[in-house]
Amino acid sequence: MTDLIEPLDQIDPSLPERFVDGRANALFERLRNEAPVHYCANGRFGPFWSISQYEDIVEIEALPKIYSSEAKYGGVSIIDVDPAQATYLESFIMMDPPNHSQKRRTIAPAFTPSEMARLGTSIRERTATCLDGLPKGEDFDWVQSVSINLTIDMLAILFDFPWDERHKLRIWSDAITSLEMMKNRPEERAANLFEMASRFHELWQERSKGEPGPDLLSMMVHATDFGEMGAAEFMGNMATLVVGGNDTTRNSMSGMIEAFNLWPDQWEKICAQPELIPNAVSEIIRWQCPALHMRRTALEDVEFRGHQIRKGDKVVLWYISANRQESVFPDGHRFLVDRPNVRRHLSFGFGIHRCVGARLAELQLQILLEEMVKREIHVIQTGPVEREPHPFLAIINSVPVKLG
Ligand code: HEM
Repeated sequence: MTDLIEPLDQIDPSLPERFVDGRANALFERLRNEAPVHYCANGRFGPFWSISQYEDIVEIEALPKIYSSEAKYGGVSIIDVDPAQATYLESFIMMDPPNHSQKRRTIAPAFTPSEMARLGTSIRERTATCLDGLPKGEDFDWVQSVSINLTIDMLAILFDFPWDERHKLRIWSDAITSLEMMKNRPEERAANLFEMASRFHELWQERSKGEPGPDLLSMMVHATDFGEMGAAEFMGNMATLVVGGNDTTRNSMSGMIEAFNLWPDQWEKICAQPELIPNAVSEIIRWQCPALHMRRTALEDVEFRGHQIRKGDKVVLWYISANRQESVFPDGHRFLVDRPNVRRHLSFGFGIHRCVGARLAELQLQILLEEMVKREIHVIQTGPVEREPHPFLAIINSVPVKLG
């Protein structure tokens, strides 16, 4: 484990390979203890600061006037927004106040408790159909058969996207996030993004002629804040929702199978006490940590915990580290469905950008667990989880399973 003996100034915490086999957890434990504010001068994705302690992340997220999310400075991931893409992908996740607050207000009504109750009914129906259709006694891939299907259907419902075309949402979502595609198949990626832009633009025009509806697309079309936005902003928001609403929740649904197989007593516990399911959902999201970090850019020279951060520096807030900090989450590497303070996890971020879709993600996972427990479905992992090396998202490509 060279990460644990290598001189601190030579470590690049962002190396994507670290995030496939748990090595990242050991490294971040070291950084939290030895260098909680760490500078990497020669990172794979450029020079950057790593913030690995819970309290420090919270402090930085509370200062958006100093630490910016703006796309023009690079956006919210360690992978800088490509300036060419920034011109056709703008989103409120990559805006600072006051623009951010104004735009977020338009989306928020799609996630109120009454909307969640309305969506809950269709989520439960789809979940039940999906689970009832799983093969008995045969090997299959949980990611393909459950996580992808459920989250894509959810997204289609949220946008009121044409049902028979919903498989495209998956292709577009992958095109946005796949590092492999960015590197090796840029033309194919651009073609997918172009197709997504054209299709959403058509839908935008259709909805603008119709009456306002409860779906997100209609909300954006008919709200003044969004009604006046240009094509770039519309596309950026759609891309944020496609990735935010899809990949993160999908990977949580996949990660939970690994967690319950590593700690089968925890599955038995929720079967015996289904009232623990909402807490178990938060524990899944803490443990899986679907967004490994968010990034900010310093807008001015600032001293932080004795370190001189310069204007323009990239500051990476490692949620994956804070979520396992011993002083906040004792025995943090363990998956415990009754962990008392689990709702403090940082997987949804903190402050003004805290995930607007958090409740929807939790609801989908909660319903999935409830329906599994109700049916006494016991999912046995039959092979290793296949993860994609990625510095920003905890992506799971496959979880081989069979039903016991
Ligand atoms: C923001 C994570 C599900 C839509 C965020 C942020 C995080 C996050 C960490 C903060 C970004 C920042 O601070 O820069 C997650 C995780 C999810 C999830 C872990 C699932 C387990 C969803 C869903 C939706 C969604 C289901 C919508 C359908 C958004 C949007 C923002 C956001 C629009 C931007 C909010 C803003 O900038 O004010 N998400 N998310 N997310 N998320 Fe999620």
